[in-house]
Amino acid sequence: MIKVGIVGGTGYTGVELLRLLATHPEVKLTAITSRKEDGLPVADMFPSLRGRVDLAFSAPEKARLTECDVVFFATPHGVAMAQAPELLAAGVKVIDLAADFRLQDIASFEKWYKIPHTCPELLKEAAYGLVELNREAIRKARIVGNPGCYPTTMQLGLAPLLQAGVIDASHLIADCKSGVSGAGRKAEVATLFSEAGDNFKAYGVSGHRHSPETLERLRLLTKDKVGLLFTPHLVPMIRGMHSTLYARLTKDIDNAALQALFENAYGNEPFIDVMPFGSHPETRSTRASNMLRIALHRPDDGDTLVILVVQDNLVKGASGQAVQCMNLMFGLDETAGLMHIPVLP
Ligand SMILES: NC(=O)c1ccc[n+]([C@@H]2O[C@H](COP(=O)([O-])OP(=O)(O)OC[C@H]3O[C@@H](n4cnc5c(N)ncnc54)[C@H](OP(=O)(O)O)[C@@H]3O)[C@@H](O)[C@H]2O)c1
Repeated sequence: MIKVGIVGGTGYTGVELLRLLATHPEVKLTAITSRKEDGLPVADMFPSLRGRVDLAFSAPEKARLTECDVVFFATPHGVAMAQAPELLAAGVKVIDLAADFRLQDIASFEKWYKIPHTCPELLKEAAYGLVELNREAIRKARIVGNPGCYPTTMQLGLAPLLQAGVIDASHLIADCKSGVSGAGRKAEVATLFSEAGDNFKAYGVSGHRHSPETLERLRLLTKDKVGLLFTPHLVPMIRGMHSTLYARLTKDIDNAALQALFENAYGNEPFIDVMPFGSHPETRSTRASNMLRIALHRPDDGDTLVILVVQDNLVKGASGQAVQCMNLMFGLDETAGLMHIPVLP
């Protein structure tokens, strides 16, 4: 059994990791940290885990993380890079759900996250954890930077088109909406029920941390200049992400060939569903599952392709993706512990 530690077990991605790993056939949950809830049984905070997780939270300094085989960091940025060197030296693999090991461009990381990067050498060897686009590197990695939630939808929605060279890469548009759990469990006025409920707003229009991450990765898929206009929105639902991507076609290509690009790219992927051309995927069709669904549209048979992508921000957008990476890093079946059917209604 793989001994797993989770740093940041009281947050939303932390409890999602607990839900997925508690029934994973090859995992023994070994340590779960919280600075504020040291000693509290996990099931007292999360009754959904009663009878499934019998550990208590422990303060990070008391948790014996170096005895684990892998440690997930479900924490704000800056926490994983402070602890990764000691863990790696002890032979422990690291999967960070924050941004410490996502961006290879250190200047860009420091600009957007406003802290110095303290382990550039480790960053160089880290694998970006978007499985469908980076599977072989993840398999060999000791350290994985799990992608952001919005970047997952943008990259998977655009990759087949960029790789085939059929769109104008310099003028991509991503209009994305996230449920409120995307902001985490910490108390903030903007995510109070009476602030976020019955309301719909854009944020970060003039710049968002997920732009540099997405751009850096999209640039690896094409030799063309890449430009991206990304507008995130907050919608009054708990889980779920819906990204509407717009790309101008530059080649004479029919709808069947466009659909074939996606079916060929993702036909064997267990967690990507390419729906029939013209479908309207809904966020609830992915809720609490690791599935991401994609559908293509071409309004008026014009030169603009509309790509709809939905996922659960906490699963394929975070913890499920991280477990998929862990499965690869330990030579397990990639789908182990991840085959939940979405919860509907
Ligand atoms: N929510 C999403 O949909 C989503 C999607 C993709 C990626 N992410 C990323 O995943 C990470 C976690 O997100 P989240 O939404 O789960 O956040 P969250 O709900 O705010 O939880 C953060 C967790 O980190 C712990 N923590 C905070 N500061 C810490 C420190 N200095 N040292 C150790 N533990 C610390 C907190 O527990 P204590 O304060 O008790 O220690 C808490 O358990 C973030 O980097 C986020 O950007 C989130």
